[in-house]
Amino acid sequence: MPVERLLEELNRVVDISRQEPPPSSFLSLLETHEWLDEHFLLHQEALLAQDLLLALQILEKVEEGQREHIRVEEEILLPVYARAGQIPGGNPEFYINEHRKMLTILDGFKETLPRLIEKSPGERRREIIELFDQGYWFKRLLEHHDNREENILYPVLDGVTSEEEREELLEKCFPE
Ligand SMILES: [Fe+2]
Ligand SMILES: [Fe+2]
Repeated sequence: MPVERLLEELNRVVDISRQEPPPSSFLSLLETHEWLDEHFLLHQEALLAQDLLLALQILEKVEEGQREHIRVEEEILLPVYARAGQIPGGNPEFYINEHRKMLTILDGFKETLPRLIEKSPGERRREIIELFDQGYWFKRLLEHHDNREENILYPVLDGVTSEEEREELLEKCFPE
């Protein structure tokens, strides 16, 4: 892509992310990101206290919540996002690949924890340190991904939908 065209496209993205959000905005999905971040921290607090059963229970909630949020984004939102055409830094593949990576890491945690429960507190300590190291990378990946969605995916979705359609879609994103 020629440089001028690339700059034009990048400016388009910057303009989109600077727009005032409409009354019903996909940015309300940031609440789900906050819920997931908070629960991952609660899981890590339980890990720190070596309460591994609680850590596993909370992790299962996080994984279930993350899976549902990803389903909503991939099944309901990405098809609508496709209307915007090519967006620099916002290729649908990026979101999908990051989702897969996030779930792979969470699955790894879920496999490790029951194994640690079997061990004595002294034997577990270094493996718990390892889980925190992996948790650090998981949180960086999540931060990067969530920023991309806050700055590109959600504002672009706001831009390609009417208020009425947004309300309908958001209802599907937040069932109950
Ligand atoms: Fe996502
Ligand atoms: Fe998201």
